[in-house]
Amino acid sequence: MLKVCNIVIVGGEGDLAFRKLYPALYSLHRENLLADCTKIVCFGRGKYKREKFYQNMRTWAEKSEYVKALDDDSWNRFCERVVQFSGDATSAKDMKRMREEVGPEEMVFYLSTPPSIFAPICKALGDANIVTKSTRLVVEKPLGESLETFNQINDTLFEVFQESQIYRIDHYLGKETVQNLLALRFANIFFEPLWNRNYIDHVQVTVAESVGVGGRWGYYNEAGALRDMVQNHLLQLLCLVAMEFPARNKADDIRDEKLKIIRSLKPINTTNVTQNTIRGQYTEGSISQKLVPGYAQEKDADKESDTETFVAIKAEIENNRWQGVPFYLRTGKRMSNRYSEIVIQFKPVVFKFIDIDPNVLNANQLVIRLQPNEGIQMNLMNKVPGLSEGTSLQNVGLNLSFEDAFEKHRSPSAYERLLLDVTRGDQTLFMRTDELRGAWKWVDGIIDGWSKTGQPARSYKAGSMGPDDALALMIQDKRKWQSFEG
Ligand code: BG6
Repeated sequence: MLKVCNIVIVGGEGDLAFRKLYPALYSLHRENLLADCTKIVCFGRGKYKREKFYQNMRTWAEKSEYVKALDDDSWNRFCERVVQFSGDATSAKDMKRMREEVGPEEMVFYLSTPPSIFAPICKALGDANIVTKSTRLVVEKPLGESLETFNQINDTLFEVFQESQIYRIDHYLGKETVQNLLALRFANIFFEPLWNRNYIDHVQVTVAESVGVGGRWGYYNEAGALRDMVQNHLLQLLCLVAMEFPARNKADDIRDEKLKIIRSLKPINTTNVTQNTIRGQYTEGSISQKLVPGYAQEKDADKESDTETFVAIKAEIENNRWQGVPFYLRTGKRMSNRYSEIVIQFKPVVFKFIDIDPNVLNANQLVIRLQPNEGIQMNLMNKVPGLSEGTSLQNVGLNLSFEDAFEKHRSPSAYERLLLDVTRGDQTLFMRTDELRGAWKWVDGIIDGWSKTGQPARSYKAGSMGPDDALALMIQDKRKWQSFEG
């Protein structure tokens, strides 16, 4: 049964709304996943006249890689759902007016606005008396820049909403390949017996971006790569790799297990921050043969900024399954390629009945490619065919490409999945308060360590894979980063 609820996008004339939310809502509409009478309310300041607004929506939908062909008939029917509403989202009077115009059905409020106005918007919703037990609130990051500021923002939400009504977005959790992590681990019998410190040497998580900071220099300079990417996306990936079997496939059971991992992270602070983290900042370089400026030369940049655009961390989980298995995390802007992957590096076999050339990587690897070319690769040792004396071995990849395996299936965007789950009332892919508190606490330790030790951001050339020190982080442990193979 499709749930009837109206979806109000507050900040409905903003970048995120046009780029991601409307294309995703259109796809849901086209797949008949919205109830017939669901309305989409674009709550904005009235920046765009009606015609220009619809034209913008269409342009972005056509550009979306997930929408692909857009057909006029379904697009026109989608537009009939859309209500363009102009008003001040921090005014209770305007909220009431909107409610009268749109109707009494259940509402989802998606705050696609800066968090600095979450509080007055929630107050306006409360004062307008339009929040019921089944109203839902969706909020986007950045939710604070420390545990303290997260708590402040979160507390303002609690003045009007309860935890069960709040959907905090981490769009990585909406990605198909990220959701597949749990299926891969828990629906295949051969991983579980090996998924522990006895057989796994270490885990690598890389989220590399080739883009720079775009027009967001101001925000980014305050945040840096640690807050922008690690506190949320990379920690969530780490949790999905490391968590135990949940008792049931229910939102809170899954989130309970993730929380245990976050709480088991070994603290990084002044005493160990320099051994376990590397900060970097890109300088001028070239990507895909195009010259790009350094971070400090970007538009609106402060030339003296020491903000990190790259970070590498050796994280450790102190529990029975993972004791002694490092999780190396790295992420950065303006790196050589855009790719995200998780590498599970297994230990080599103990008894070597064949002499293995020391130059051959003699252990199995499971490589989970999250984007692009989504898929899974299992690297296995094989005999090289031939009649030469002795046996030579080679590590060969067994490849599963999602595109080939599921060619008849369309892969939905992260926002389609997340928006749909909000309408269904499923909080599994959204972050709970305690998870975020735990993540901020861990990240605060690193930030405090950086500030007390004065750890500088090392330069790296745009188009590289980060500063050399990031290599050293693994070399000191006699390991190396997996290099990207296209
Ligand atoms: C966002 C960050 O959360 O994720 C951006 O704020 C980053 O800086 C983006 O570019 C990356 O998302 P994706 O889906 O392109 O990997």
